[in-house]
Amino acid sequence: MSSVLTVRGGVPLSGRVAVRGAKNLVPKAMVAALLGSEPSTLRNVPEIKDVEVVTSLLQLHGVTVAKDPVTGDLTLDPTDAKTAPSTEIDAHAGDSRIPILLCGPLIHAIGEAFIPDLGGCKIGDRPIDYHLSSLRSFGAVVEKRPGGIHISAPKGLKGTKLELPYPSVGATEQVLLAAVRAEGITELRGAATEPEIIDLICVLQKMGAIISVQTDRTIRIEGVQELRGYVHSALPDRNESASWASAALVTRGDIFVQGASQLDMLTFLNTYRKVGGGFEIHDDGIRFFHPGGKLTPLVLETDVHPGFMTDWQQPLVVALTQADGVSIVHETVYENRFGFTDALIRMGANIQVHRECLGSVPCRFGQRNFLHSAVISGPTQLKGTDIDIPDLRGGFSHLIAALAATGTSRVTGIEIINRGYERFTEKLEGLGADFDFTDGN
Ligand code: EPZ
Repeated sequence: MSSVLTVRGGVPLSGRVAVRGAKNLVPKAMVAALLGSEPSTLRNVPEIKDVEVVTSLLQLHGVTVAKDPVTGDLTLDPTDAKTAPSTEIDAHAGDSRIPILLCGPLIHAIGEAFIPDLGGCKIGDRPIDYHLSSLRSFGAVVEKRPGGIHISAPKGLKGTKLELPYPSVGATEQVLLAAVRAEGITELRGAATEPEIIDLICVLQKMGAIISVQTDRTIRIEGVQELRGYVHSALPDRNESASWASAALVTRGDIFVQGASQLDMLTFLNTYRKVGGGFEIHDDGIRFFHPGGKLTPLVLETDVHPGFMTDWQQPLVVALTQADGVSIVHETVYENRFGFTDALIRMGANIQVHRECLGSVPCRFGQRNFLHSAVISGPTQLKGTDIDIPDLRGGFSHLIAALAATGTSRVTGIEIINRGYERFTEKLEGLGADFDFTDGN
């Protein structure tokens, strides 16, 4: 039986939550440890499912992963890295997308890799064509096999010139992790430059890599023979911070997010202010609050960094259902990231989704029959209902909608939220939310 959260809405969330290392950096830094010739230590590691999945994948390959019982810091020792029986990898891949990033490090460590078919949030097709074409460009042999792909490089990986058709975060990470120990120089044009990418570059530089990021989204990597271990404290999770900020707005509350970093959230903070949210920047975090009065509707377009992150859109859409007027959101990164609005509409939200690009520029999904623009009219009174959570960010959005709604909501599938939000039921309790948690395990 799956766990159930019974939420009694209408209570403003107020208090303090601590946000730790970014879900979209920590697992990648763990994989990077495989490239080193000595142990690495990763700090500010959150207790989330994605870290557990990558821990077991690395252990399968002979990496020892020790967790400090007090701080949660991880020490990863790749000295005995080996090939894992592919069937075992299947059992551990779970619903994570991280396994694809093991390709480069495993080829450098043991000459081959078997990567299971990937999971991850159902917010689009999520192909890996850029990853596979990049690996082939380094000289790897990529073979489709039942249940996944086998990758090998008998002559090792050679530096190459690459251009990504779209600034994919995952594909940029794939190239970085393959290029740092490839022979010669790699030039990647059209790279992603999200803060989590830059933090991964910091990790690799600490290990001895030579990487430069140019202003035109070109990243140059000079391959080196050997990399050392690293000691690194992961950057804070800006997506979790933005989720709690939206929760404060939706429930008309006041939440101090300890660890939130203004530098990584500039675009979010501008949008938050335009909607009518209040925030105060402190040395150790950011206070987000609803200042009272009405919220302002807006026209929003998601984009790659430094644009408005696609991961921020879903929790903010819930706040826009409470804004006084019509808002428009054009999702340009994923083709199917409005599925979560079905439950909001059942709760009383007034949202229509459209195939057209309702934004300033036509995007990749314009004429391809994807419902990737949303029109939200508010304010509407949300009423509690039964909700089954579809994906990570959509799930958090359903949670904050239930917390703001009148009446009771029965929320199932909340295990998905554990993938990216550390101890979220404890945090909700600390913020005064009124709910019961029935553990289905
Ligand atoms: C990362 O996903 C994040 N996940 C996502 O966060 C985030 O939304 C996304 O980057 C964009 O910022 C992790 O880091 C684990 P992409 P990733 O490759 O790397 C297309 C969350 O909620 N594409 O930048 O998978 C793809 O279909 C998650 O924390 C190809 O076409 O994202 C998408 O349309 C959700 N071919 C676009 O690029 C490829 O080979 C962006 O994807 C790769 C990607």
